[in-house]
Amino acid sequence: MALIAILPGDGIGPEVVAAARQVLDALDLGLTFEEAPVGGAAYRAHGHPLPPATLDLAKRADAVLFGAVGDPEFDNVAREHRPEQAILGLRKELGLFANLRPAKLFAGLEDASALRPEVAAAIDMVIVRELTGDVYFGEKGRGTTADGLREGHDLMRYDEAEVARIARVAFETARTRNHRLCSVDKANVLETSQLWRDVVIEVSADYPDVALTHMYVDNAAMQLVRNPGQFDVIVTGNLFGDILSDQASMCAGSIGMLPSAAINQDRKGLYEPIHGSAPDIAGQGKANPLATILSAAMMLRHSLGEADAADRIEAAVTAALVAGHRTPDLGGTATTQDMTNAVLAAL
Ligand code: NAD
Ligand code: IPM
Ligand code: MN
Repeated sequence: MALIAILPGDGIGPEVVAAARQVLDALDLGLTFEEAPVGGAAYRAHGHPLPPATLDLAKRADAVLFGAVGDPEFDNVAREHRPEQAILGLRKELGLFANLRPAKLFAGLEDASALRPEVAAAIDMVIVRELTGDVYFGEKGRGTTADGLREGHDLMRYDEAEVARIARVAFETARTRNHRLCSVDKANVLETSQLWRDVVIEVSADYPDVALTHMYVDNAAMQLVRNPGQFDVIVTGNLFGDILSDQASMCAGSIGMLPSAAINQDRKGLYEPIHGSAPDIAGQGKANPLATILSAAMMLRHSLGEADAADRIEAAVTAALVAGHRTPDLGGTATTQDMTNAVLAAL
């Protein structure tokens, strides 16, 4: 019997994870669930955002369903105690180097997109974001210059093995789709990016059936708004992928719609919405639970071999949207539970 670690976290995290849990329970797949505190909630209870027992559960589990972490209350505490360190620590400790962030426009959401309906309708891409390297995990620090000025630095760094393995995941992903891969970098300025581009080109020799293109990240941000339908699979580094996926989410209707899978070499995974803890709407029943419900579907598909159940969830989400259910981020008035009920009814 598969064990699922449930890590709700902060803000709307517990609200959207509870919604996904209802959907998983309704499918009656014989899964076992074990819950643990993470982020600010864990810091309050145990003095650490990623307590050893939580990390241990994540390692023992067959898959992790994660909500979100982050709370303005902790914005000024030492970095190692901030809630966000929990998700960074989980990614690093579990070796979750590949982050799959599918962005597609669900039927009926053309009006929710920030783009013109006919432009938005064509959105169907997967952003493959490298997740355990880059400026996120390079040497960082604060100091004082010779002139007595405060200074801060974060090293952007990749080695060729890190680039090659994420490139392979991206090429493999493109093979399951339309065989087009766009690698996004800033090779015109950054050495890290030139290495990235060189290695992606080397790896492409093993994937002659995938059409590889390259794009600078500033242009990619523009193209995502101009003509998002041109993208099939995007592969990019940790920081660029973080930014571009939030942008892609709004093109597809809302940040409350985008799920993600963070997987390692063994395809063990942590599944979470791409959004954060949304302190501005926490506790009000306004959060869109669909990104987390769709993350649960990705978990069933990628880590648990339950493709049929994943298909059922995705079909139920589509049905709920086609039936007109809309949380406030999608321009409606449905509560988190209303939307969850609509998905449950459609299952
Ligand atoms: P955010 O994603 O939490 O929120 C940005 C905006 O989108 C807010 O207006 C919010 O209300 C809205 N939003 C987000 N998710 C929504 C949903 N499901 N339904 C409806 N509206 C939604 O980003 P932020 O405000 O920059 O960050 C808030 C906190 O979350 C910070 O502490 C940040 O570090 C953290 N964060 C955590 C994760 C994570 O746990 N993986 C991801 C992103 C941000
Ligand atoms: C995300 C978040 C995280 C990131 C933060 C909270 C560390 O923005 O999951 O997209 O930057 O990766
Ligand atoms: Mn982000």
